[in-house]
Amino acid sequence: AKRGYHEKVLDHYSNPRNVGSMNKSDLDVGTGLVGAPACGDVMKLQIRVDSATNTISDVKFKTFGCGSAIASSSYLTELVRGMSLEDASRIKNTEIAKELCLPPVKLHCSMLAEDAIKSAIRDYQNKTKRVKQTMGEAL
Ligand code: FES
Repeated sequence: AKRGYHEKVLDHYSNPRNVGSMNKSDLDVGTGLVGAPACGDVMKLQIRVDSATNTISDVKFKTFGCGSAIASSSYLTELVRGMSLEDASRIKNTEIAKELCLPPVKLHCSMLAEDAIKSAIRDYQNKTKRVKQTMGEAL
């Protein structure tokens, strides 16, 4: 193993969970696309939301970035599956960093995961708002 890296990081890095993408235009899908200005790494995270319960029923990611960013997003996908949008929007990057034992210089990599889930939730919420407005206008 690489020195200084926790086993969990290496595990999520070598076997990332839930890699892939969903149809961005599906009404129950929220897409978050965020970048880290510090290094230029990019993360795309998508959630599928069960509107009846307001919980995340499925989640996929693609990360073009360092090992810690890939591990952070992989870990995050496992964490948020089944979670309510409210709880998921409160996830802090420090929780992810702690779980994966990321060193301080890699904190921004976990920040990418926090930003990505927040942005995916916002995208889903904006979409539902637009749908409701359109339906309102049609009535
Ligand atoms: Fe930038 Fe990890 S070095 S996301």
